Amino acid sequence: MRGLILSGGAGTRLRPITYTSAKQLVPVANKPILFYGLEDMAAAGITEVGIVIGDTGDEIKAAVGDGSSWGLEVTYLPQDAPLGLGHCVLIARDFLGDEDFVMYLGDNLLHQGVKEFVDHFEADRGDAVAQILLCKVPDPQRFGVAELDAGGAVVRLVEKPADPPSDLALVGIYLFDKQIHAAVRAIEPSARGELEITDAIQWLLDQGHKVRSQVLDGWWIDTGKLTPLLEANRLILETLDRRIEGTVDEESRLDGRVVVQPGARIVRSTVRGPAIIGEGTSIVDSYVGPFTAIYHDCEVVNSEVEHSVLLEHSRITDGGRITDSLIGRRAHVTRSAERPRATRVVLGDDSVVDLA
Ligand code: TTP
Repeated sequence: MRGLILSGGAGTRLRPITYTSAKQLVPVANKPILFYGLEDMAAAGITEVGIVIGDTGDEIKAAVGDGSSWGLEVTYLPQDAPLGLGHCVLIARDFLGDEDFVMYLGDNLLHQGVKEFVDHFEADRGDAVAQILLCKVPDPQRFGVAELDAGGAVVRLVEKPADPPSDLALVGIYLFDKQIHAAVRAIEPSARGELEITDAIQWLLDQGHKVRSQVLDGWWIDTGKLTPLLEANRLILETLDRRIEGTVDEESRLDGRVVVQPGARIVRSTVRGPAIIGEGTSIVDSYVGPFTAIYHDCEVVNSEVEHSVLLEHSRITDGGRITDSLIGRRAHVTRSAERPRATRVVLGDDSVVDLA
């Protein structure tokens, strides 16, 4: 069994962050999203992993290296343009050979990991050539949706159906055997110009192949937008144990599940967990509220931050109260004493500001 992680793509829904950096490297609870997928692969006993990369490939390579930190052997598979999930399988043909593989969207997070899913397929696949993972969702119109027969076998897949045949959305993790290679060669690009993996799976079904499904018990999040990213952050923070490795002065208070990473400083401040404060970050005369992840080398001074993600080297000084926010790398939020007392901004393309 090999692993294929998709880490190219355009990331339009997470602009402006994705203008300058890969969405798969945005941290969730101070760890890049992609690393959770790599950990899941290693935990499932997979050692050879191919990572599809696009324009942000150099940054992904710099972060993951040869994969040895996870006990993995990583091969990078450059994709010239984001031509679809099916196209990723097409370009990974030589790397995958005829082996079974698990395909994992690099911006997805899965509570239960992939071990059980992989073990299940290996031990008890019968004549199935693929296995998909499904999750009950309240709004199936927004997803690829599966129609199942009484025994749980997949009958049909429909992309964003107006009239959904079930409430079971396709999760971004798939298991395939070598038959999928014929499928991605046989299908045509969709109306949006992509080789769709749902079309490839539908092709397998149309050829009379069996595709199994498994319904998730835990949560699954496609982190490609702000709200699910904050939600993923909240869910992961809730699982962390309190760990204080930085320095906390006597005038500060840490409540509940708080992680203070090495080299972080908490000075005359209150941090109410679940929250994580990254390496080399300073929190001074401030309040950090629940569900906040502040990455490394940031500064929060005389401000309040809650339910937010701050990327590395960002600063909030005299910033008032910030909630439900994603602050980009090296961004600075401050309040100036100068007249006129107006809001002054330098905003990147596609930035969003919600004024109080
Ligand atoms: P998506 O989130 O479906 O697509 P996207 O990254 O282009 O984002 P947006 O819709 O916001 O523009 O992609 C799912 C994952 O697969 C993500 O990690 C990017 C990756 N991917 C590729 O590697 N190659 C591709 O051709 C596509 C479409 C996605």
